[in-house]
Amino acid sequence: MLELLHVTKSFNLTGAAEDERIALDNVSLQIHPGEFVTIIGGNGSGKSTTLNIVSGSLIPDKGKVLLNGFDVSKIPEYKRAAYFGRVFQDPMKGTAAEMSVLENLEIAYVRGRTHSPIKWGFSSSHKKYFSEELKRFGLGLEDRLNQKVGVMSGGQRQALTLLMATMRQRPSEKVIKRDYVRFCEGNKEKAKVEVETAFELAKENRKNALLRVKKLPKEQRKARVEEIKAAYESEISKFDLTKQILLLDEHTAALDPKTARKVLELTNKAVRDNHITTLMVTHNMKDALTYGDRLIMFHLGHIILDVSGEEKDKLSVEDLLKMFEEADKKAEQ
Ligand SMILES: Nc1ncnc2c1ncn2[C@@H]1O[C@H](COP(=O)(O)OP(=O)(O)OP(=O)(O)O)[C@@H](O)[C@H]1O
Ligand SMILES: [Mg+2]
Repeated sequence: MLELLHVTKSFNLTGAAEDERIALDNVSLQIHPGEFVTIIGGNGSGKSTTLNIVSGSLIPDKGKVLLNGFDVSKIPEYKRAAYFGRVFQDPMKGTAAEMSVLENLEIAYVRGRTHSPIKWGFSSSHKKYFSEELKRFGLGLEDRLNQKVGVMSGGQRQALTLLMATMRQRPSEKVIKRDYVRFCEGNKEKAKVEVETAFELAKENRKNALLRVKKLPKEQRKARVEEIKAAYESEISKFDLTKQILLLDEHTAALDPKTARKVLELTNKAVRDNHITTLMVTHNMKDALTYGDRLIMFHLGHIILDVSGEEKDKLSVEDLLKMFEEADKKAEQ
């Protein structure tokens, strides 16, 4: 669970009282594991500040950020990096232009797992895996692994950044269990039993499903085995804390409509397949309604709307526009 507790952040560039800008005013927010939250709000309403506070690139003036019950407010950004993936509005930001697609992916893949550059090694060991992942994007990037990222289009770079932000090197079973207990909320013993039981159950299910495969006609077996493996991975990934949170700040704003749609679809798929808790800032209200499980609206550093499920499904773009107008009117009074 990701929580903001009474977070306040203000900026003052000159030191004069009249120049004080309150970017976030006593904001509290609880986001559940795997929840996909879309965030809307006018310019300067505090959306990016929220994401920056979550990632650690800004430290709150007051209040706390808790990750699975742990106060991470003062943990510097580079130490939190293993837990977060980020994609910014600017396609130039998330990738290293002078490096090849393969090199960028390799760095992202091991990020947070090892600090030793020697271990990074731009080997071809993961090449096959990266190619397969890129192929799913359907942008032809799998054939350009050795090209420098600097020559790619904005859409291709955003898709690559997205993959870098969401893929992860699966830690060993031991590390997953250890980190899960270490970062759990409340009772450690209970968490230990919970993770052990879940692993056992997932393995048992996999074993039984694989036994049943033998009864299938030969031509169906291979596909079924892949499905079983994917189901197992999906169960296990719920307990893997690396890159468990994805922060997207208008990440499709600089793309043409067709590419934006494609990157959004890829986002949705990556988020759902990997059960990633996601905060997606967008100015596109239709996208904010179409994607995600929950929608939050910011206005002048406050959350003025927080809806999910059916309540969210019932909303229209017109409703949201009306709410914006009303909030502006209220603020003017
Ligand atoms: N580094 C900074 N220095 C000074 N003021 C800042 C800084 N970052 C944000 N602010 C101010 O804080 C307020 C909230 O900014 P924030 O970037 O969070 O808005 P936003 O909702 O992301 O807006 P946009 O839709 O324009 O991206 C604004 O008034 C902004 O000018
Ligand atoms: Mg912003």
